[in-house]
Amino acid sequence: MSAHGPASTAAITPAMSAARAADIAATLDLRRLPADFLANPYPVYARLRETEPIKRLPDGSVFLTRHADLVAVYRDAQTFSSDKQVESGPPYNHAPFAQPPWAVAPGVSPLFQHHTSSLVFNDPPLHTRVRRIIMGALTRRAIEGMTPGLVRLVDGLLDQIEAQGGGDLIEDFASAIPVEIIGNLLDVPHAERGPLRGWSLAILGALEPALTPEQEALGHQSVKEFLAYLKDLVAARRRQPGDPEHDVLTRLIQGDGGEGLSEAELLHNCVFLLNAGHETTTNLIGNALISLQEWPEQRAQLMADLRAAASDEAREAVLGLAVDEFLRFESSNQLGNRRALAACRVGGVDLPAGALITLCIGAANRDPAQYSAPEVLNLRREGNKHLAFGFGPHQCAGLSLARLEGRIAIGRFLQRFPDYRLTATPLRGMRARFRGFLNAPFAVR
Ligand code: HEM
Repeated sequence: MSAHGPASTAAITPAMSAARAADIAATLDLRRLPADFLANPYPVYARLRETEPIKRLPDGSVFLTRHADLVAVYRDAQTFSSDKQVESGPPYNHAPFAQPPWAVAPGVSPLFQHHTSSLVFNDPPLHTRVRRIIMGALTRRAIEGMTPGLVRLVDGLLDQIEAQGGGDLIEDFASAIPVEIIGNLLDVPHAERGPLRGWSLAILGALEPALTPEQEALGHQSVKEFLAYLKDLVAARRRQPGDPEHDVLTRLIQGDGGEGLSEAELLHNCVFLLNAGHETTTNLIGNALISLQEWPEQRAQLMADLRAAASDEAREAVLGLAVDEFLRFESSNQLGNRRALAACRVGGVDLPAGALITLCIGAANRDPAQYSAPEVLNLRREGNKHLAFGFGPHQCAGLSLARLEGRIAIGRFLQRFPDYRLTATPLRGMRARFRGFLNAPFAVR
């Protein structure tokens, strides 16, 4: 088997020659990424790690690919800011949208306002305030309490798929799970969940390094529509609060005794929360089930390990290792961003104050300095310190929930359909930041 998986499914992750990888690496420009890179960026990442791990890009920013360098940046939040207020390049800038018809405040575009109000793109104090409130609702007990509902949801989807004899891995399964789980977290009425996924895809999609004017406009429009919807939901929840133990929206409205959130902060952080858990988790589940098709020996071994597990705990442990390896191998969120607040040194390279930094999670997660045989999917991998959820003070607030969703969705799918197979080459999203598939037709036997 090659480093890219077996030849029969090469069309899913096409191989790239060393010469081509070197070419793309030499002239890397996130605003102009070729299709073969988007289909399989890993040879380029490997080349960058070896030759230019702190790569200067044409716009003056730097692109980091080594695991140790990413950890150093993530860890030092005093030097490396997440605040996007002062960034001037897309996707955060508002200059080209100085007075768009959809502006939510004079001179500020909806996407700019959204991204600069959400906790992930802020430093303390806003970051600390919002994170504390959210984390209070994502305790181990609260997440364990979600298990029975998650199992019912997944089994219901599997029943429908069985009745149809197959379907689309993304549409009928992977994407149908997070929308319900995150919807439950904010207690969004079931009948109103329809537009959530579209808004989420458009808003997070607008974080891609290169955008068409149509994608940008759709991102703005989606923020506007999402906010309009949430205003009504928040007003209703203020009149009739839910149980703050389970309902994150009530929690965000009531605060935790400290300084509360302004109305704009409240709405934008709800939008972020609803988005953060959507496409990322969809792609974890979709990428995993598609990777198994590319790595039949790993699939056979995983099935054997699951059959051999003597207890529920042992089965959970097998699935836990597998989920973390799927996250490492095909990280659904491939890129992160920071800005140096002061002159600093990263990976032996001096950076000036103000330097914009892209953290390449997808590259760090395949760094041979950190992992043995990093280009090989190894579902029994132990000590897997991947960066798929980031690291440090901004590390994913939903990581336990995402892992639970992954274990239940992938585990129950494999148990029910051990012989599932893709019936056509799945269609990739072809995005640099969010790595996943748009659809993947399959049959259950
Ligand atoms: C496989 C699924 C997921 C992946 C790969 C993922 C990835 C990430 C990453 C890389 C970050 C860090 C961003 C940074 O440091 O700049 C992050 C932050 C965050 N994620 Fe996730 N995420 C996932 C699922 C979820 C879920 C299910 C939720 C909701 C419950 C969630 C909520 C958040 C929040 C609130 C933050 C911001 C944390 C902060 O800034 O302190 N994520 N996620």
